[in-house]
Amino acid sequence: MMEMDKRTDYSGNITAKYLDQEVTLYGWVQRVRNLGNLVFIDLRDREGVVQVVVNKDSGKELMEIADSLGSEDVIEVKGKVVKRSSVNPDMKTGEVEVDANSIEVLNKSQVPPFEIKDDVEIGEQTRLKYRYLDLRRPTLQNAIILRSKILRAIHEYFDENGFINIETPILGKSSPEGARDYLVPSRIYPGSFYALPQSPQLFKQLLMAAGFDKYYQIARCFRDEDLRGDRQPEFTQIDMEASFVDEKGIQDYTEGLLKKVMKDVMGIDLKTPIRRITWDEAMNKYGSDKPDTRYEMFLHDLSPIFKDSDFKVFSGAIADGGFVKGIAVKGGAEKYSRKHIEQKQDYIKRYHAKGLAWVKFENGEFSGPVAKFLTDENKQALIKEFDLEGGELVIMVADKWKVVTDSLDHLRREFAKETGIIPKDVYDFVWVVDWPLFEYDEGWGRWIAAHHPFTMPDDKGIELLDTDPHKAHARSYDIVMNGDELGGGSIRIHKRSIQEKMFKALGFTKKRAYEQFGYLMDALDMGFPPEAGLAIGLDRFAMMLAQKDNIRDVLAFPKNASASEPMMHAPAPVADQQLADLGIEVEDQYADSVKETEARLEKEAKEDADKNSTWDE
Ligand code: AMO
Ligand code: AMP
Repeated sequence: MMEMDKRTDYSGNITAKYLDQEVTLYGWVQRVRNLGNLVFIDLRDREGVVQVVVNKDSGKELMEIADSLGSEDVIEVKGKVVKRSSVNPDMKTGEVEVDANSIEVLNKSQVPPFEIKDDVEIGEQTRLKYRYLDLRRPTLQNAIILRSKILRAIHEYFDENGFINIETPILGKSSPEGARDYLVPSRIYPGSFYALPQSPQLFKQLLMAAGFDKYYQIARCFRDEDLRGDRQPEFTQIDMEASFVDEKGIQDYTEGLLKKVMKDVMGIDLKTPIRRITWDEAMNKYGSDKPDTRYEMFLHDLSPIFKDSDFKVFSGAIADGGFVKGIAVKGGAEKYSRKHIEQKQDYIKRYHAKGLAWVKFENGEFSGPVAKFLTDENKQALIKEFDLEGGELVIMVADKWKVVTDSLDHLRREFAKETGIIPKDVYDFVWVVDWPLFEYDEGWGRWIAAHHPFTMPDDKGIELLDTDPHKAHARSYDIVMNGDELGGGSIRIHKRSIQEKMFKALGFTKKRAYEQFGYLMDALDMGFPPEAGLAIGLDRFAMMLAQKDNIRDVLAFPKNASASEPMMHAPAPVADQQLADLGIEVEDQYADSVKETEARLEKEAKEDADKNSTWDE
């Protein structure tokens, strides 16, 4: 410990190395056990828990203080480290205890709304309302500390490799990354708005134009999109860009970064180069552009087997230009009942699947509702295709390619989880390369850039921009780990003529393209270097390394699933004067809901004020 710390060390570090030494500790009371002539206090801080003991010999006053302690009181303890009579092998500090000679209560705590320990069931709302208590729990302390270690490794890596850390504005102009923007109204220009960055994409490209050559930033990004377990409205990217590099260059830098983080934070030697699979292969074999490569259970195309089948569900789908694809679940024949499988059939309707066909293969026989449609030839072909040995459940979906692919991706992930074939503690990285340049967005009803509009098409793709743009492929790449997208990037367009064609293919008029991106077009014409970049989602990365299911667990103060923050109450209505300053009026249709929110916040404030306040008005 440094001189400025009054503590000798953290409670969680008090091991036998401090034996017989006098120590000063600070922390929170985890638990008090009074055995009459002995009081045990579990003292907790960010590094762990140590047992403090007070006995009759320590004097009446100290016994009284010890006895008066309650959970979450914050105290100073001075005492001597001694051997523990009954060693607790589950605790790092389990060989010793601190024989207290003084305890000072620095602050008492009310009874907390939940116990501060890892395995408690607490509703999200309560967790977030009392986030500072939630964060006292060891699992969250560890996750936040792990995130800090990742950040340190990142800064070291980029510094060692000549990258310059440059901050880009938070108040900017909308850049189209596919999500809705968060807007900030301008007071000086009422009716005009800044947009919070969805990513620093165009700034970092312009930094390459400015000649910084290698840039990085731990960049806060904002996207107003539907939230999921791995998405927050406000998140952080490890953002990088470099000039005069190709795919391999930027991928090598990324691999170097991942290698260092895995080593420094997890003690794991990541093998590089990380393997690459094409987008086509990922979609066909795994049904996903972010394939979980920790296990096989590949998708098989069964269309050749069933194209002439009497089972019209199959042959009809193929005749309509669709596919029949399937997966074989080892051990699934016994594990899954008809009811189970039917539940899954209901679920995949959300991917627009019309149904799910299944057969079980046991003792050389096929059974299940669809078995009667299988000819002997079909049966032999299935055995060969899936290498069936017996005990498998074969799941098949017939439909358009996208429906089949999405449904089987979901089913593959679910069956893998349920049958326990996913290896533990494996971090399986893979590059997904050779993406399409465009994708059709059903929601928007138009073609959008699969990565973003500044992504360079491959050589053939540049030609296709003039003829058949939607067939073009992109020089983009995603880094995927354990079935989740960790990051993505691309070679950027550095020629104005190609950028113009790209905007055109995206349905921009020349006027709109120049209104929105005139500055970029200008820059492209003034010695813009060839360059590339990538961004990794820091929160997702931290979530995976901390082995959490939700991104919220690696953020100190996250938003909840409905994008609000129940502790400080964001978002919240603002004073009429603030709105007037901005020239903004809330529409009548929202007046009731604003009133409701105000009333709710007022009620909560009153409850807080009435609870324990000593303020006499
Ligand atoms: P992209 O949009 O793929 O690329 O984002 C990069 C990575 O950021 C993470 N991410 C998120 N994490 C948490 N919550 C969210 N809402 C969220 N959205 C994205 C993901 C994702 O892989 N400018 C480009 C990068 C580039 O081309 O250099 C970009 O933003 O892990
Ligand atoms: P049906 O002939 O519609 O009663 O369907 C017979 C079986 O095929 C049922 O088990 C359905 O769930 C299944 N099924 C229906 N449509 C599809 C489809 N598009 N793909 C796979 N199986 C399907």
